[in-house]
Amino acid sequence: MAERGLIIAIDGPAGAGKSTVARVVARRLGYLFINTGAMYRAVAWKALREGVPLDDAGAVGRLAGESLIELTGGVDSTRVLIDGRDITGEIVTPHVGQAASVVSTISAVRRALVARQQWMGRAGCVVMEGRDIGTQVFPDAEVKIYLDASPEARAQRRYDEDLARGLAVASLEEMKEQIERRDHSDKTRADSPLTQAEEAIYIDSSAMTVDEVVDRILEIAERREDRR
Ligand code: C5P
Repeated sequence: MAERGLIIAIDGPAGAGKSTVARVVARRLGYLFINTGAMYRAVAWKALREGVPLDDAGAVGRLAGESLIELTGGVDSTRVLIDGRDITGEIVTPHVGQAASVVSTISAVRRALVARQQWMGRAGCVVMEGRDIGTQVFPDAEVKIYLDASPEARAQRRYDEDLARGLAVASLEEMKEQIERRDHSDKTRADSPLTQAEEAIYIDSSAMTVDEVVDRILEIAERREDRR
């Protein structure tokens, strides 16, 4: 059987820079880029739209199992589709992010999405980012990164991002509170809480540029590739 390509798993809390960094790493290596948070956001978006209570585990779990969620396009033009409808622009709001954090505590939702993520990354040559990639989705990933940053740095980044997107912006203080609430929920949920995988390399990006983080990850990936 042909050996599959490298899997680079990047986990960490909201605002640590995972998507930005993962995208650049994927572009530099010619790999697939998979943003798993977008899939939880898509489920949350549909539940909100259909008026399904977010804490109704049975109904939201069924919804996740029945929906067709697709990530299409290249590294720099990723689109998120649910049941054929492009919702890329609609799932980036803080409201949907918060709702995603709620639906992600439902085991049936996680089972449905993790199975799809494993299928999407099965051939390797992929950079996948989220909260549980190195611990649950690909525990055998060759490269595992835990990307972190201080709550202040993460709040500032999310604030700048929302401003650039033209979204209604909360104050920096409110943003920090939102981020800390989401961290708490992601780290304390019963099913697949956000934790650093044992073999994951910890990177604190608070005082690093995107290029510095990318170079560090490429270096780690290169070393792993050499050892294969
Ligand atoms: O990364 P992003 O902020 O888009 O993720 C939204 C939410 O989806 C997270 O707060 C988390 O609760 C959930 N999520 C998850 N597992 C993943 C990716 C995201 O539980 N692999």
